[in-house]
Amino acid sequence: MTGTAAQRRSLWTTPEGDALLVIDQRQLPHRLVVERLDSVAAVRTAIVDMWVRGAPLIGAAAAYGIALQCRVAADDASLAATQAWLDSARPTAVNLAWATQRMVVALQPLPVDARAAAAWQLAGALADEDVATNAAIGRHGLGLLQALAARHPGRPLNLLTHCNAGALATVDWGTALAPVYAAQAAGLAVHVWVDETRPRNQGASLTAWELGQQGVPHTVIADNTGGHLMQHGQVDIVIVGADRVTARGDVCNKIGTYLKALAAHDNGVPFYVAMPLSTLDRRVHDGVAEIPIEHRSPREVTHITGQDAAGALVEVQLVPDGSPALNPAFDVTPARLVTGLITERGVLAATAEALAATA
Ligand code: MRU
Repeated sequence: MTGTAAQRRSLWTTPEGDALLVIDQRQLPHRLVVERLDSVAAVRTAIVDMWVRGAPLIGAAAAYGIALQCRVAADDASLAATQAWLDSARPTAVNLAWATQRMVVALQPLPVDARAAAAWQLAGALADEDVATNAAIGRHGLGLLQALAARHPGRPLNLLTHCNAGALATVDWGTALAPVYAAQAAGLAVHVWVDETRPRNQGASLTAWELGQQGVPHTVIADNTGGHLMQHGQVDIVIVGADRVTARGDVCNKIGTYLKALAAHDNGVPFYVAMPLSTLDRRVHDGVAEIPIEHRSPREVTHITGQDAAGALVEVQLVPDGSPALNPAFDVTPARLVTGLITERGVLAATAEALAATA
């Protein structure tokens, strides 16, 4: 994804195996800065401050966080404390707790002095698994795109996505964008409408950047534009990612996803959610009532960061002095608005029955 083969993924490790390397996504698309994380505290900061973000990527990073801490202390009490501390970094995406739980369950039966080496290997295996999972999501999503394209011969398919559920949000390939990359490899023409995704602009900054790197035709649109495009037949399909999907198929994803689902429903546009099954939280049912929604700093709403003519990153204020702002980072789209879930095991209905069958 990002230049040299060694840096193709969104996270990787030093050749010496003593640290995790990540892209500081806060600086994209202006600068490609790689940061070295060599402690669990550094990993947690990178997750909280969103150097790394996207549900699968924060899970993979947290797995390495556990592995780094095992080099300092690997007894049961330390494992439990590290797990709880990492889980509290961001509350909504369930992949974070899924990954730390997987690490702890695998490490606990091992002798304490064997845990550090095993943990590093387990984190690597989890990262590799994420890549394979997303490639499978891409293959299943490609089938959907090919079927749609057959109905619209002679022109590119128009796909709309929200936020960044691409390679940058995962170890590689992405979830919502995996079918796009699979289509590109298969020679199927796809054009992507990229919602800018205020307040943090993951669409404008990250999705547009990675699609540009891959040579995928795309157009950035203001968040409010999607409904208008759907009314005018300019969106064939919506595919978004997910941070948590409930047992009955409610989908929690980046704030603004729900409004896109409503507009898609009103206009008969298929609305798909691409998700690894690690995003499924079988313990919760009613997403609106039960999923904890992260609230971030109001400053993300009141201010915006960009690059000035001299290449410096500058933050500017958008609102009057003293105007309060509210910043919920995610919303919930009820299952009834979801056409289907693109998983590594195939395309599923967003229903309790279909999801229970994956257990
Ligand atoms: O706040 P972010 O940037 O971590 O939110 C990311 C999203 O909402 C993604 O759509 C989701 O994590 C799926 S990523 C494959």
